[in-house]
Amino acid sequence: MKIETIGVVGAGTMGSGIAQIATLAGLQVILVDVSAPALTKSVNSLSTRLDRMVHTDQLDRPSREAAMQRLVASTDYRSLEGVDLVIEAATERTDLKMTILRDVESAVAPHAIIASNTSSISINSLAGALERPDRFLGIHFFNPVPVLALVEVIPGLQSSTGTIESALQWARQLGKSPITVLDSPGFVVNRLLIPMLNEAFFVLAEGVTTAEEIDAGMRLGASHTIGPLALADLIGLDVCLSIMDVLLKDLGDPKYRACALLRDFVAAGRLGRKTGMGVFQYRV
Ligand SMILES: NC(=O)c1ccc[n+]([C@@H]2O[C@H](COP(=O)([O-])OP(=O)(O)OC[C@H]3O[C@@H](n4cnc5c(N)ncnc54)[C@H](O)[C@@H]3O)[C@@H](O)[C@H]2O)c1
Repeated sequence: MKIETIGVVGAGTMGSGIAQIATLAGLQVILVDVSAPALTKSVNSLSTRLDRMVHTDQLDRPSREAAMQRLVASTDYRSLEGVDLVIEAATERTDLKMTILRDVESAVAPHAIIASNTSSISINSLAGALERPDRFLGIHFFNPVPVLALVEVIPGLQSSTGTIESALQWARQLGKSPITVLDSPGFVVNRLLIPMLNEAFFVLAEGVTTAEEIDAGMRLGASHTIGPLALADLIGLDVCLSIMDVLLKDLGDPKYRACALLRDFVAAGRLGRKTGMGVFQYRV
C-alpha cells in the first residue's frame, strides 16, 4: 500500500519530529493534539527547525515552503478521515492511548494503518482496544527523530503481513532503517538503554562524581556521543521513569527498579529539556 497522507496524533517532542520528516519526504501530514497551545508550539518549533535547515543549506526555501504547506494542524480527530496511516505519539499512558486508538479507528477509513510510537507499552495490549487489530502495529521512532536512523517495527500477534510490509516500506520512504522486533517490554533499544541511564542516576545519587563528570566519563571512556544524564534530559525524565516502571512490572526483575532520584526529579516537574530543567538547565 502506498502511503501518501498521514496523521500524527500527539504534537509533542516525537510527534513534531515525525511530522517534520514526513512532510519533508513529500507526504501530506495532519498533526492532531488535544491541546491547541501544544499544536501551536509544535508547528512553530517545526518551522524554526526548517528555517535552520535553510540557513545551513540543507534545504532550499521553496522546499521549505512546500513542506509547511503539506502540514495541517488540528484538534479534531475527524480531520484524519482521508489518511493512509496514523501514528499515535501521545503521552505514554495505556488508558489514554487506548482511548485515542479507538477514536482514531472510528475516524479513519478501513484501509488505514494505525501505529503507536509507544516506548514501552505492549502492542498486543493496545491492539485489544481496536476492532481491526490486523491493521495495527508499533512503529517506534527515536529522539531526535530527524537525526536518528533507527525505527523499530513491532508487529502484534494479529498484525497482517500487508500491514507489516507497509510499515517497513513507509519507514524506508522516510529515510529510516527499520528493524523488526518482537512485542517485548522496552523492545530492543530501550531494554538496553534506559536501565543504563537509570544507573547513571544511582551513580549521581551516591555522589560517586558530578553529573558533568558522569557524562564526560561515558563520552570519553565509552565513545558515546552524548552522556547518559544529558540523554535522559533529551528523552524526558518522565518518559525514562515510565519505561523503567514498565520494565519492572512486565519483566518482574528487581534489577529494573527506578532510582529514587529520577523519581524525585519527575515529581518536582524537572522533566529535562522540554521543561528547561532536568539534571541540567536549558534555555527554553
Ligand atoms: N521522548 C522520547 O525520547 C521518545 C522516544 C521514542 C518514543 N517516545 C514515545 O512517543 C510518545 C510521545 O512522547 P513525547 O516525548 O513526544 O511526549 P510529549 O509529552 O512531548 O508529547 C505528548 C503530546 O501528546 C498530547 N496528548 C495528550 N493526550 C492527547 C490526546 N488525547 N489526543 C491527542 N494528543 C494528546 C499532549 O498534549 C502532548 O502534546 C510516547 O508514547 C513516548 O513513550 C518518546
